[in-house]
Amino acid sequence: MHESIRLQKYLAQCGLASRRKAEELIAAGKVTVDGVVVTEMGVLVISGVQTIACMGKVVEAREQLVSYLLNKPKGYVTTLADPQGRPVVTELLKEAGTRLFPVGRLDLDTEGALILTNDGGLAQQVQHPSHEINKTYEALVRGMPDDRKLNLLRSGIPLEGKLTSPARLRLLSRQGANCLMEITIHEGRKRQVKKMFSYIGHPVLSLKRTAYGGLRLGNLQTGRYRRLNSADLKKIFL
Ligand code: URA
Repeated sequence: MHESIRLQKYLAQCGLASRRKAEELIAAGKVTVDGVVVTEMGVLVISGVQTIACMGKVVEAREQLVSYLLNKPKGYVTTLADPQGRPVVTELLKEAGTRLFPVGRLDLDTEGALILTNDGGLAQQVQHPSHEINKTYEALVRGMPDDRKLNLLRSGIPLEGKLTSPARLRLLSRQGANCLMEITIHEGRKRQVKKMFSYIGHPVLSLKRTAYGGLRLGNLQTGRYRRLNSADLKKIFL
C-alpha cells in the first residue's frame, strides 16, 4: 500500500483541495513534507510513511476502499481471528496490504466465493436482507433426491421454526451414487444449505459457493483472489 504519489495528488486524494488548489498551496509555501517546506511541483511522497502538513495541520490519508473476491479453500475460518489457532482467510490476502474483513461467512469445510473488503458500507449492503442477494452453491449431495424432495426445498422447509425462502435448484451431474446440485438462495442462515439437504435426507458431502448475485467465481483458482472493480461490484446486486 505504501506507493509514492505526487504531493498535489496526495493532497487532493485526502480531500484537502482540488488538484489545482493543492498546487497553489504548494507554490505558496504552505505545505511541508516531514517538516520541510516544499514549493516545487511533482515531489513524490509516500502515504503513511511521510508526514504531510498544510499550514501546520497534518493531512491524513483517507484509506482507499477496496474489495476482493477470494476463492476460499477448505480449512480456513472466515473470522478475523481464531482462538483455536486455525488458519484465517485474511492470511490469504496479506499481500493486498490493507485491513480487510469478510462479507458474511462460509463454514470451515466450505470453499468458494468470499468477498473481503475494507468498505463497511458495501458489506452492509451486500448482507442486508432487503437486497435479497442470491448466493449460488454447488453441493455434492449423498444419493439422488427425487423431484418431490427437490420441490420441498424449492418451496421452503421449516428451519428453526421459520420457513426457508424459495430456492432455485438444478441437477448439474451425477457422480456415481451421489449427485452435484446447484442451489441458489438469498438467505444466509447458519449452515443453511447443509441443513436444507439434510432435511430431505440427502446430506451435503462437499460445498462450494460459486456466485454472489451475478458475480461469479469463474476460473479463480482455490486460494487466489482478485480485486473487484466497480463493474464487478454492480454485478453483485444483479
Ligand atoms: N450454507 C452452508 O451450509 N454452509 C456454508 O458455508 C454456506 C451456506
